[in-house]
Amino acid sequence: MNEVLKTIKSRRSVRAYTEQQVSVEDLNRILEAATYAPNGMNFQTWHFTAIQDAAVLAELNEKVKGAFAKSDDVHLQERGNSETYCCYYHAPTLIIVSNDPSRWWAPMDCGCAMQNIFLAAKSLGIGSCWINQPGQTCDDAEVRAFLTKIGVPETHRVYGCAALGYAPEGAPMKEKKLAEGTVTIIR
Ligand SMILES: Cc1cc2nc3c(=O)[nH]c(=O)nc-3n(C[C@H](O)[C@H](O)[C@H](O)COP(=O)(O)O)c2cc1C
Repeated sequence: MNEVLKTIKSRRSVRAYTEQQVSVEDLNRILEAATYAPNGMNFQTWHFTAIQDAAVLAELNEKVKGAFAKSDDVHLQERGNSETYCCYYHAPTLIIVSNDPSRWWAPMDCGCAMQNIFLAAKSLGIGSCWINQPGQTCDDAEVRAFLTKIGVPETHRVYGCAALGYAPEGAPMKEKKLAEGTVTIIR
């Protein structure tokens, strides 16, 4: 099997991280991979905001929790009021992937960029996970103000975030169970 297919098949979401930071060189390689993703009309209207400052990440988590605490959903309220809830699993790096929602392809562009991020990270020995919560809450006024403060373009929605870092040594990886019947081939 070639290296690309091996990387695709061996990537798994990582939900626990050591404190080891992703190097500037590797972060740049991953961000560059993101910008090489296919995107609608090649307009490249997306933006990648990478955070490697633990205090900024913790503040973002607090804003997300604040939004959850206001929700009607009991499960989200619990997360919002939890002392320990951390939407990014204490990963040392988070990349926020945003785009202009007036472009109909905005979410697809971001999905392609996210997958490039995950595969580039895997190829460099770096663990990753899709983090949904900043996107889920980006219409909340306080989350929005914070996103703008850290450089997410004001006109953008957050479509996904990628947690990046290193899994603790020996951390078990779940076996991938594939759903049946998801492929049709017509010849
Ligand atoms: C659109 C999308 C949103 C996701 N949101 C989250 C999330 O917020 N937190 C999380 O831990 N995993 C999240 N995931 C990761 C999925 O749970 C994971 O990809 C799936 O269980 C398959 O496992 P694997 O990535 O290890 O192959 C998300 C994945 C996608 C594609």
